[in-house]
Amino acid sequence: MSDILVHTEAGVCSITFNRLDKKNSITAAMYGAMADALQAAQDDAAVRVVVFQGHETIFSAGNDIADFLNQPPAGEGAPVFRFLRGLAAFPKPVLAAVCGPAVGIGTTLLFHCDLVYAGDNAAFSMPFVNLGLCPEAASSLLVPQMMGYHRAAEALLLGEPFMAEAALEVGLVNKVLPPTEARSYAHTVAAKLAAKPLSSLIETKRLMKKGQAAQVQAVMAEEGASFGRMLREPAAREAFGAFMERRKPDFSQI
Ligand code: COA
Repeated sequence: MSDILVHTEAGVCSITFNRLDKKNSITAAMYGAMADALQAAQDDAAVRVVVFQGHETIFSAGNDIADFLNQPPAGEGAPVFRFLRGLAAFPKPVLAAVCGPAVGIGTTLLFHCDLVYAGDNAAFSMPFVNLGLCPEAASSLLVPQMMGYHRAAEALLLGEPFMAEAALEVGLVNKVLPPTEARSYAHTVAAKLAAKPLSSLIETKRLMKKGQAAQVQAVMAEEGASFGRMLREPAAREAFGAFMERRKPDFSQI
């Protein structure tokens, strides 16, 4: 079965991470599939809302580390950047149901969703510094904006995880539910949105986002260039090597 499941029903397109044995970590092929799914959902008048979802125990462990090492994203056309640009500019409402760990892009993609519902087991983290990298998905802009600078520094410089209740407090999450209910709740809300006039949804979202749409794309491009460069540098090599070898990274010489 595919690592990304795409299913449309009653105006709602669900994009599901389906790679549980690797904690729903995301390969270049999966980014490509999600970028294509978003483009198709944008073009298909029958799709009115998109929902991202994972499993009750894990949303996503972020980038697949081995895949990233083997085929680092090359240039702006790389599937990961195609996906992020498409998500940031997606005109229709996007929801997410998040349970368990949401690591790296598992958290940063949520800053581009319109509504986020979390299981009380959700744990959000953006450990880019711990991996010798820098923020992506315009998170260097959007995280301080949403959380305030000092909480953003805790999340982005220390890379420390925060739980669903903290995410609710800063406004990253709309509601916290038992993990067994997060997905169905998100779909109830998606159905409500799907019954509304699509043109009004699109125009309302456009008006809310237009103030910084260009800035988001520009920051994303700048972060992407740094991220791509840093992936090849010693700190990331050490961090990723340590993960694969199940040891603590040693940055003392870097
Ligand atoms: N890339 C590639 N493989 C990953 C992965 C990732 N980001 N995250 C987990 N996996 C794999 C593990 O290598 C392991 O594979 P194996 O069974 O073949 O050995 C399997 O998924 C299970 O992972 P494990 O770490 O044993 O699960 P856990 O429940 O103890 O922990 C996480 C779950 C998500 C907390 C932990 O896996 C983790 O921290 N992953 C790395 C997250 C990360 O740094 N992402 C990069 C962000 S840019």
